[in-house]
Amino acid sequence: MEMIPQEDRELGVVVQGFDAATASDEDVELVRKAVYAEKIVVLKDQHLSPEEFLALGRRFGEPETYYQPMYHHPEVPEIFVSSNVVEGDKRVGVPQTGKFWHSDYSFMPRPFALTFIYPQVVPKKDRGTYFIDMGKAYAKLPEALKRAAAGTRARHSVRRYFKIRPTDVFRPLSEVIAEMEEESPDVFHPTVVTHPVTGEDVLYISAAVVQELVDGAGTPLDATLLQSLLEATGQLDDTFTHENIHLQTFSEGDLLIWDNRSLIHRALHTTQPEPAVSFRVTVQDGHHW
Ligand SMILES: [Fe+2]
Repeated sequence: MEMIPQEDRELGVVVQGFDAATASDEDVELVRKAVYAEKIVVLKDQHLSPEEFLALGRRFGEPETYYQPMYHHPEVPEIFVSSNVVEGDKRVGVPQTGKFWHSDYSFMPRPFALTFIYPQVVPKKDRGTYFIDMGKAYAKLPEALKRAAAGTRARHSVRRYFKIRPTDVFRPLSEVIAEMEEESPDVFHPTVVTHPVTGEDVLYISAAVVQELVDGAGTPLDATLLQSLLEATGQLDDTFTHENIHLQTFSEGDLLIWDNRSLIHRALHTTQPEPAVSFRVTVQDGHHW
């Protein structure tokens, strides 16, 4: 097994020669440490069945199954399927996922620690995912913004990107909204979290999910603070040229693991949709802030 820093990148390492079937506990430990230290690990040349992919995730923590069944892999429900491919009238997974800045499951009380993405059908062009390291982004903030964010909390809500499910057709929207609020009520997380493994301070906000910031007493703060933080971290840059934005590309056989507490991400915007299918496993690592 060999680890190589990604060329011209501030983030991530590439791992050659990792065989999920024969990897020792020491190999897994080295990869785990690299995920926390480098934020993204790309395992090259993986050939895993859905069951083997889940088994790999299990070596890093406790897999958590997504709360909405429409995303589940038909045989392995712990796998979340993003897919724009339809075969006949059969669809597996959900298309158009994640084209907005977010951290997976931040709208839940206990967001995932690690995300594993294993692309199955890789587009020829426009492939990749944008990332921002919100630990580094926090460190670079002007002192005044750091002071303003200190001690505040952020309200995370699924509302803005909740997708209508096939079972919602012909239902009154008010009923669907009431059900959404019942199943996934808004949650509050500290605006600045201390990463429980690395100890790094991370600005834990994303443009898609955070609706507002509140002070220590729960009183909503003026919206300009949230806007300034989103702006300063690069999340409002529609050209994706902000220095904080990292484009992670991938090839067939790549399996990406990332630190979902430190990074926010968004799917690459594609102009001409090509077939794309991706499997995702998400795990808890026994820590929480
Ligand atoms: Fe995501």
